[in-house]
Amino acid sequence: MTNQSIDYSPPPQKEPTRRDFLLLTTGALGAAGAACFAWPFIDSMNPAADVLAQSSIDVDLSPIPAGQAITVVWRGKPIFVRHRTPEEIKAAEQAPLNELIDPETDQARVQKGHDQWLIVVGICTHLGCIPTGNKPTQNRGKYGGWACPCHGSLYDTSGRVRRGPAPLNLAIPPYAFVKPTLIRIGTKEVAHG
Ligand code: FES
Repeated sequence: MTNQSIDYSPPPQKEPTRRDFLLLTTGALGAAGAACFAWPFIDSMNPAADVLAQSSIDVDLSPIPAGQAITVVWRGKPIFVRHRTPEEIKAAEQAPLNELIDPETDQARVQKGHDQWLIVVGICTHLGCIPTGNKPTQNRGKYGGWACPCHGSLYDTSGRVRRGPAPLNLAIPPYAFVKPTLIRIGTKEVAHG
């Protein structure tokens, strides 16, 4: 038997390995590459109506009960469309900005006159998992928004990150109200009339 001492201390937190870094970098380059590809293609169409149509989707809000959210897919991404209750709106508005990891007012994340509707990209800003919380029966975490099952980030009822490791709030996609119960995701303006 050798006289080697055995280290019983817990293993150190896993540092991102070179392989992780390469995977992330590849993903980022892939995304950037896709964006570079998409832009000249769409631009060269100048932009044809059918391309615009494909780049946006309409979502009927009327079947979504207060307190719940649905997921729709826009350009390959999950988009959460949440019908907030008055309590959820109040909680989002009253969150102290100086406690936020990525300070942003609730007002800046919803559209004026439609503050019961929160539209966010449903991809955790840490490493891209899909948070839970669209249904009240799912884990929403202590801030009542969404909880990321991968590394525990928590988001509030404005989709703002309240506990990391995620560094940023859930992104807001471009969208516009076609009418009070219909939104178009993929555009910021809708011609009325
Ligand atoms: S991917 Fe969500 S916390 Fe890591």
